[in-house]
Amino acid sequence: MKVAIIGAGNVGKGLGKSIKGAGHDVIFASRGESARTAAQSTGGTSGSVRDAAEQADIVILAIPYGAASDVATEIQSVVSGKVVIDVTNPLSADGSGLATEPGTSAAEQIARWLPGARVVKAFNTMFAAVHGNPKAHGQQLDGLFATDDEVAREKVAQLLTSMGFRPVWVGPLSRARELEAMGYLNIALQMATNGDWQATFTLVGAPKGALEHRAPTSARK
Ligand SMILES: NC(=O)c1ccc[n+]([C@@H]2O[C@H](COP(=O)([O-])OP(=O)(O)OC[C@H]3O[C@@H](n4cnc5c(N)ncnc54)[C@H](OP(=O)(O)O)[C@@H]3O)[C@@H](O)[C@H]2O)c1
Repeated sequence: MKVAIIGAGNVGKGLGKSIKGAGHDVIFASRGESARTAAQSTGGTSGSVRDAAEQADIVILAIPYGAASDVATEIQSVVSGKVVIDVTNPLSADGSGLATEPGTSAAEQIARWLPGARVVKAFNTMFAAVHGNPKAHGQQLDGLFATDDEVAREKVAQLLTSMGFRPVWVGPLSRARELEAMGYLNIALQMATNGDWQATFTLVGAPKGALEHRAPTSARK
C-alpha cells in the first residue's frame, strides 16, 4: 500500500517508521521541513499535502485537530473513495478536556469536511512511542478503530496487522466519540501520574465480530 502521512511530528514519525517497516511506501507531508526530515530518517519520501494525498491509497491525518479543517480543504478533491485515518485527539486549549461538542467527535467532523472519503478513527488511544514500536510491551497490542465503511475496515485491518497490531473494530464512526474520550483518559492519566506515555488499551475477550474484517464483495465498488 502507499500511505500518505500528513503531519510529521511525534505521531507521523512513529507511524511512518512502523508502516515503512511493514513494507509499505510512505510519503510524508507537512507545512515545513518536518516532512522532509521524517522521510530521510525513515526511508520514505515527502511532498506537498495535496500531492501526497493524491498519490496514496490511505491518508493518515497526524496533525493537530485545529489544522484539520485547512488540511481537509487542501485534500478534499483528491480523497474521494480513499481511506482517511483520523488520529487526532481534539484537546481543549488548556488541556482540561475535549474541544468537541457533546454528541459528536473530531472524526465525524472530518468526515463532514471530506464527503466521499472513507473516514476511520484509529491510533488515537495509543501514544507515539507505541506507534513507532508496536512490540514495545512484548505482546501483541490492539489497534482499536471505528468506521462506517466496510472497505475501509478491511484495509485498515490489513494495515494494522502488517504493523503488528491486532485490529479491533469498535463500531461505526460515531464510536470515535468514545475513542477520543479514551485518548483523553490516557493523556490525563499520564499527566496526573507523571507517566512515561507508553500505556495503551487492549480488549480482553473481544467479541469475534470485532475481529473479522473482510468486506463483502458488494462493498467493493
Ligand atoms: N503524541 C501522541 O502520542 C499522540 C497520540 C495519539 C494521537 N495524537 C494526536 O495526533 C496528532 C499529532 O500529534 P503529534 O504529537 O504528532 O503533534 P506534533 O508533534 O506537534 O506534530 C504535528 C505535525 O503536524 C504538522 N502540521 C501542523 N499543521 C499542519 C497543516 N496545516 N498542514 C500540514 N501539516 C501540519 C506539523 O508540521 P509543520 O508545523 O512543519 O507543518 C507537525 O509535523 C494530534 O492531533 C494529537 O492529538 C498524538
